[in-house]
Amino acid sequence: MPTVTVTRRLTFNAAHRVHNPSLSEAENQALFGKCNNPNWHGHNYVLEVSVKGEISERTGYVMDLGALKRLVETEVIQEVDHRNMNVEVAFMKGVIPTTENIIVGIWKRIAPHVAPARLVRLRLWETENNFAEYEGE
Ligand code: NI
Repeated sequence: MPTVTVTRRLTFNAAHRVHNPSLSEAENQALFGKCNNPNWHGHNYVLEVSVKGEISERTGYVMDLGALKRLVETEVIQEVDHRNMNVEVAFMKGVIPTTENIIVGIWKRIAPHVAPARLVRLRLWETENNFAEYEGE
């Protein structure tokens, strides 16, 4: 059967502070500017989850996108939505909550659960203009 990539889009909002605790306040301010605001700031994130696999003869699907939605809600959205990523998201513990680090954390939460399809790409929009993509490398 042909192999197809399907994508589900989900949204969440979360607060963070881009801050490296091993650097001084002045270094953090110089590196991260307003993203280093000690009183936090938030984003409306858009997450696109793409899985690839063969079309099932029985269903005509690569993966039921409703099932993918529920999986991402359980593994990711419930963990991060309306939360502060620096202080209350277990899978972000010990990393600077940049879009890059968030997307790698999200990958680890989703990748084990999509078989027989496989996770091939995540795209995480932090603003309308900025996004990161990760393909698991
Ligand atoms: Ni930010």
